[in-house]
Amino acid sequence: MSGDGSGSGWEKFGAIDPYFAVVNQEAYRGTRLPAGAREQFFQSGKAHVESVMADVRAHIDPAFAPRRGLDFGCGVGRLTIPLARVCGSVVGVDIAASMLAEARENGREFGITNMELRQSSADLAELDDAFDLVHSFIVFQHISRARGEVILKAILDHLLPGGVGVMQFTYHRKASRSRKLVHWCRKTVPLANGVVNVAQGRAFAYPLMPMNEYDLNRLFLMIQDAGCDRSFVRFTNHGGHLGLVLYFQLR
Ligand SMILES: C[S@@+](CC[C@H](N)C(=O)[O-])C[C@H]1O[C@@H](n2cnc3c(N)ncnc32)[C@H](O)[C@@H]1O
Repeated sequence: MSGDGSGSGWEKFGAIDPYFAVVNQEAYRGTRLPAGAREQFFQSGKAHVESVMADVRAHIDPAFAPRRGLDFGCGVGRLTIPLARVCGSVVGVDIAASMLAEARENGREFGITNMELRQSSADLAELDDAFDLVHSFIVFQHISRARGEVILKAILDHLLPGGVGVMQFTYHRKASRSRKLVHWCRKTVPLANGVVNVAQGRAFAYPLMPMNEYDLNRLFLMIQDAGCDRSFVRFTNHGGHLGLVLYFQLR
């Protein structure tokens, strides 16, 4: 996978390790999870959406009841499925057809009928409808800052007045210089990821999950310029990748 989030690595992840690619725990390896692991995986998504809706109602809009939601980077539907239960309807978009195929199957198994799944281009230029909830969690961090800003602009352009955004971004990595250098090489130097893979006991072609940090000043400016006023922030820390979930509402 190139470091800009253009998608070929995610296609591979979707084919070999779709659940592990979403939540990096060994219990989630492979394409078919044992019942216990599967239940735990989807329970984590349900808990996430419950806490997001509680935050929105406590800090942004107590009466918020979304009619149409967007889940950007929906993966296998871990969060899209519980979002479908709190929205009139939900659209999940993802760059990887293999991830969407898994999400479609999961939606069927959970009996979800108000969830539409679409493959998106790398910059989301094709997005054509409007939403009153736009949501994304642990996705922008895998997309280069330049491309991610283009995508955020596209999403903001499709937020309805009174609509709410809940979007997570990473902004800093707590790691030694050498770790950061190795990650940068894996993202940008041809074959470097393969060499590290073999050194660490993985197949040469195992894809990299690139991580990227965003400039918060630029994100806040984009969001405020789009006409959003009420806001709330919750910090995230996934193994030293520091980030935040930005909650905001369009006037
Ligand atoms: C770590 S997973 C998170 C999935 C989901 N948000 C969740 O938390 O369960 C990241 C997802 O983002 C998708 N993705 C990566 N780059 C993307 C892009 N440019 N456009 C849309 N989806 C993308 C990947 O295919 C993958 O399914």
